Order: sequence, then C-alpha cells, then structure tokens
Amino acid sequence: SKVGIIGVPFDKGQRKAGVGEAPDIIRSAGLVNELQGLGLNVHDYGNVQYETASINVDNMPNLGDVAACTQKLSEMVQQSLRDGRRVLTIGGDHSIGIGSIDGHVKVDKDVAILWIDAHADLNTNKTSESGNVHGMPVALLASELADYWPYLPGMDWQQPIVSIRNVGYIGLRSVDRYERLVIEKFGITAFGMEDVERFGIHEVVNMALRKIDPDNNRSLHVSFDIDSLDPLEAPSTGTPVRGGLSLREGIHLMEDLYRTNRLNALDLVEVNPRIGDKKSVDFTVEAAIHIIQAGFGYSRRGLKVPEGITD
Ligand code: ARG
Ligand code: MN
Ligand code: MN
Ligand code: MN
Repeated sequence: SKVGIIGVPFDKGQRKAGVGEAPDIIRSAGLVNELQGLGLNVHDYGNVQYETASINVDNMPNLGDVAACTQKLSEMVQQSLRDGRRVLTIGGDHSIGIGSIDGHVKVDKDVAILWIDAHADLNTNKTSESGNVHGMPVALLASELADYWPYLPGMDWQQPIVSIRNVGYIGLRSVDRYERLVIEKFGITAFGMEDVERFGIHEVVNMALRKIDPDNNRSLHVSFDIDSLDPLEAPSTGTPVRGGLSLREGIHLMEDLYRTNRLNALDLVEVNPRIGDKKSVDFTVEAAIHIIQAGFGYSRRGLKVPEGITD
C-alpha cells in the first residue's frame, strides 16, 4: 500500500522556536526507511511552502501565516489522498491540523477524527488566554462553533466542515474553562487520562470509535500531539503536562486504529527539537517514530512474511 509524507515546518501557532525543525529531524532519523521496511511504497511530497500575508484579527497574531500555510497543506493532503496514498503530515505546531483535516474532508467527506492530546485545542480568539492558534484548530474546524468566530480574512477557503460529533479526544488533562464548557454543551466525545486509568486504553479506543464511527465506515484521521504522551516519554515539546499516556498506550492506540484499515491520515505534531538536551530530543523523536510506525502497520507481534514467500 501507498503512503505520502508531507512536512510542515510551521511554528507560528505558538511562541517557541524550534517546532518548525521537527519534520526534517524526524526524516533524518530514518523515517522513510522505517516505513519502507514495513513494505510500503513511500513518496515524500517535501515540505509545505507558502507566502505569508498580514491579517489583523484580535488575539490571533500570525493568522496570516496560519491561513497561508494551512491552505497549502490542505491542497497537498488532497493531492496525496487522490494519488491513493494514506497521508502522514509531520508538524510543526498543532495549528496545522486545520489544513490536514480540511484536505482529508475535501477528499473523503465522511471523516472521523481522533484528537490525541493533553489539550483540547478548542479555544476561539475570544476564549484563548494565550492567543496561540495551536490552541484553536478544533474550534476552527467544527461547524457547530462557526457562530463563535468573527469573520477571518484569509480563511475563506476553509469552511468549518467537521461536525463536532465526529471528533473524539483521548489523553486530555489540561482543559481550559471555556473548553470544558464547550465539551459539555455539545456532548463532545472526550476521554481524559482519568478514563484511560479507569477503563484502559483498549476500551477507551473502542468507546471513542463507537461514538464517532458507529457504523465502522468512516475514513479515520488521527491528529497526534506528542504532548499527549507523558513528558517522561516525550520531553521535547512546547506545552508539556505531567501525567500523560505512556508510549505503550500510544502505540497500542495506533495499532488498534491501523487494524481498522481505515486510518487514512495521521498528523504528528509539536515535537520541538530545541527543547531539552540531545538525549531528550533523540528520545522524543524516537517516540514519534514508534507512534508513526504503529499507525502504518508495524506490529509488536512481528510482521507477516510478504505475500508469495512461503518458506
Ligand atoms: N489551552 C492552551 C492554549 O489555548 C494550550 C494549548 C496547547 N496546544 C497544543 N497544541 N499544544 O493556549
Ligand atoms: Mn497539546
Ligand atoms: Mn486494543
Ligand atoms: Mn494539540
């Protein structure tokens, strides 16, 4: 089967330099080789390039960059899916989820999204205390929240095309007040760390899928924020929160989703190679690669012998 890789060296959805360097660092850690080792036909579409425009909207500095970059990313994701390639988008900060999910929905329409994150990323420019757009992508995508936004110049290409009922969270442990209000008001599928403790990751994945993909027929999109993992597992990230998923839980979740055969898009975001010492960075990149591999068919039970080879 075929996979496309898209790098998004984008860091303007938050304030810490370095997260834009992750796509090239993750590539040079041997990503393509690892994926080819799974028997995949891999094409690297390269990094998103865009021309920035300046846009002034309250509490959204850099909206011009976010708009231009995510528009290009959406087009590249559409290209990969139309080429018959499941798509791996490597960020960059989590604002790029706007573009990757937009691209997926423009090709597949019936998409269910798993947002694996310590955070809900559900702020609007009115509720955000940080003004960081990486804390807002889900709110920009959700049709039910369209009325909570002002007109956003530069974002006309992006309609709020996802129903919040098709979004499920796993890993939450740092949810802002207004985000909680929105989750409760709309009954959003949200499994926090308490639920992982209570039910275990296997059950949590099944429960999330039953809610957002009840007929087992949607195209699945995983937006994996590396800060969903515990900082002991993935220290090099901009907004770490203690008490997160183990790498084992992350891998289990990705293996389960791969086995649905409908995992068509994976975002891996928020790795910041300028945070922590070399050991921390290598460790975080390694964790990211484990998550990606599990999402594209690596199995801890061992791989199958390729078709046609019997002894
Ligand atoms: N809720 C906080 C904010 O709005 C943190 C968001 C962190 N998001 C992320 N993608 N790491 O700024
Ligand atoms: Mn996060
Ligand atoms: Mn399982
Ligand atoms: Mn996030």
